[in-house]
Amino acid sequence: MKVIVTGGTGYIGSHTIVDLLENNFDVVCVDNLSRSKKYTLVEIEKISGKKINFYQIDLCDKQAVLDLFSEHNDAVGVIHFAALKSVPESVENPLLYYTNNIDSLLNVLLAIQQFSIPNFVFSSSCSVYGNAEQLPVTEQTPIKNAESPYAHTKQIGEDIIRNFANTNPRINSILLRYFNPIGAHPSALIGEIPIDQPNNLVPYITQTAIGKLPQLTVFGNDYPTRDGSNIRDYIHVCDIAHAHTLALNFLIDKKNTSNCDVFNLGSGNGVSVLEVIQAFEKATLQKLNYTIGARRAGDVVAVYADNTKAAKQLNWQCKYNLEDAMQSAWNWELKMQELF
Ligand code: UFG
Repeated sequence: MKVIVTGGTGYIGSHTIVDLLENNFDVVCVDNLSRSKKYTLVEIEKISGKKINFYQIDLCDKQAVLDLFSEHNDAVGVIHFAALKSVPESVENPLLYYTNNIDSLLNVLLAIQQFSIPNFVFSSSCSVYGNAEQLPVTEQTPIKNAESPYAHTKQIGEDIIRNFANTNPRINSILLRYFNPIGAHPSALIGEIPIDQPNNLVPYITQTAIGKLPQLTVFGNDYPTRDGSNIRDYIHVCDIAHAHTLALNFLIDKKNTSNCDVFNLGSGNGVSVLEVIQAFEKATLQKLNYTIGARRAGDVVAVYADNTKAAKQLNWQCKYNLEDAMQSAWNWELKMQELF
């Protein structure tokens, strides 16, 4: 069964391709390589022992997307990762985010409609919840205002897909709301390759520990949480990746009751920034140089998932804990030191 994966050389996309190949899917990988490296493809092929059909295409180019789908109109599904994802960059350059993330989605949906591809999985984010009033968040938790243009593109993307589903009853979609993906493949052959300085906590931790960055700043210890730092739901990227294979199979096996369904993908554990640092130090025996600084604009105080729906319906369970994820992130940082 053939699946088209957009953004396939990116962080979650690359780990998902490995999982899809392990589960006997054929993969057509599409990426414009604007935020990822072709190197990742070679490593995916090493892990899987399989060749990938790769297209360097910008999904904002409608004709290129239609040509690709025309060539692969036998695909059983599409997993759409391709998007820009830096929260601070989206605050600085909102038009870039709205144009890129929405235009690409519209072109992909147009092609899915034109070639009647039956199944669609969309990368959404826990950031769609905004500052949720009740924790953990379930899929029914009311959606608040987005805290950044990035988060807003995910809310708009979800709305577009819901509208699309209403008028395309034979096309089935799943929206996967990721919490905070971290870590790397256990082989240490693929992982996140940050472009410029990382914004996210875990690459910032590993780059500090290895000496690329002088010090980590914890953004605030005066929040109303158990130790004053923000709480998030960190989840191993391989666990997120496997959920895509399960979601696609769920649709293929026609187990869905709605043609546009939504699932939280989080571990269910709320963990503070200071606890993440402790887990890193414990797992890797590295001492981290960190200081406490001011709050970062746009941060929600706390968010973590109720993942009961994904567990029950997709039969999804997390294989890795926080320390496994920190160890794998560190192994990947050590590997990148050799590579780049
Ligand atoms: N943090 C620090 N210091 C840093 C970096 C982060 O203390 O140098 C803290 C943040 O304040 C936050 C936590 O670490 O409390 C996690 O921050 P991240 O930037 O790693 O992730 P976010 O929770 O901000 O999540 C954002 C988006 C998600 C997206 C995720 C990964 O809201 O949608 O980044 O790109 F999935």
